[in-house]
Amino acid sequence: MDHFSLVDGAMHCEGVPLSVIAEAVGTPVYVYSTATLKRHARVFREGLAGAGDIHLAYAIKANPNLAVLRVMADAGYGADVVSGGELARALAAGIPASDVVFSGVGKTVAELTTALEAGLGQFNLELEEEGVVLAGLAAARGLVANATLRVNPDVDAGTHAKISTGKRENKFGVPIDQAPAIFGRLAGLPGLALRGVAIHIGSQLSDLAPLEAAYRRVGELVAHLRGLGFPIERVDLGGGLGVPYREGDVLPSPAEYGAMVARATKDWGVRLMFEPGRVIAGNAGVLLTKVIWVKPGAINPYVIVDAAMNDLARPAMYDAWHDFRAVHPTGDRMIANIAGPVCESGDTFAMGRDIDAVKSGDLAIFRTAGAYGATMASTYNSRALVPEVLVDGDRFAVVADRILPETILAAERIPEWLTPGD
Ligand code: LLP
Repeated sequence: MDHFSLVDGAMHCEGVPLSVIAEAVGTPVYVYSTATLKRHARVFREGLAGAGDIHLAYAIKANPNLAVLRVMADAGYGADVVSGGELARALAAGIPASDVVFSGVGKTVAELTTALEAGLGQFNLELEEEGVVLAGLAAARGLVANATLRVNPDVDAGTHAKISTGKRENKFGVPIDQAPAIFGRLAGLPGLALRGVAIHIGSQLSDLAPLEAAYRRVGELVAHLRGLGFPIERVDLGGGLGVPYREGDVLPSPAEYGAMVARATKDWGVRLMFEPGRVIAGNAGVLLTKVIWVKPGAINPYVIVDAAMNDLARPAMYDAWHDFRAVHPTGDRMIANIAGPVCESGDTFAMGRDIDAVKSGDLAIFRTAGAYGATMASTYNSRALVPEVLVDGDRFAVVADRILPETILAAERIPEWLTPGD
């Protein structure tokens, strides 16, 4: 459920007509709903009510806007970060470092050091060498780094190949069968407190079965590690719960997910950690755009909108579906292709789709764009970096400016050559 709906024939975000935002900020622009973010934060937490001691770390990569992070901080969420940049955002939003988990397969020594000195809550180690280096950095500073070992359970998550992470050929985690040996070598290192294991098998998961299979494998590993004498206190179960992108899509609810978690982990006796991203932010945002032209096409007309693949990359990258709605629907329909202005055929949001009829100058939205939307934007074709607006009830605020092409151009220069020795 979200808070984007028609009121008197006009699409609103909560109490604000989207046409008012388009007028004030221009298009394209991302619009997020505070009420939806809060609702998802609450529903996800409530779904896990039967799962015992839990820690929730919002996966910042899904939507790292500072204002969104502040909403999540106020909802009592920690953060899952994957870079020094994301860590800085979490801290700037007021999330305590001790509630931050650091994931990622390529954390640099500089990033590990910064996180360590900030008092980070947990490092999810991706390989043995990372653990050795982290232990050394911590010991040299008289610190102890809390860590888990991320394991790769070799489970097919049944999602798009580009967002699958738990198959043995993927770059993530250590092979689960090698985990006990690696655990044994890292557990004794001064500077490192290896407290458990972590997994994350993929994103936009529409079926709980692969997740449950992965959790069962982790359960066996936990029992095995305990048998070897390692005290296992934490298991990080990652993120991945999918959201409906198309009307009629049926996805497992947070309550169903929570029931599965409770079932799969009931004897573990650990603190369970979660890294939800999309399920929190996905349906809390739309990309608001304006129709530039309706261009006759050989088969169907092309609705050319002012948003493009640089603003919302998911259709071009993952063939993703985002529902398209007119902001002032007339009730008429049309079969059309929807594309942006970028000079690539891949800059196409939909082909041959049955949509609200629109004409030049009309406003429209791509729904379910709150996660992996603005954060994946680029300036390709020397387009502006798309701005973001947060709505709360009947008020709205610009929470990220449109970065104009001239600002980006100003950071570039025609070379004034230097030669060594100058
Ligand atoms: N934890 C880890 C270690 C992750 O790698 C991810 C996502 C998450 C948590 C959050 O997963 P979520 O709950 O959002 O599924 N750009 C792609 C999605 C990439 C997901 C990467 N990792 C997309 O637009 O579909």
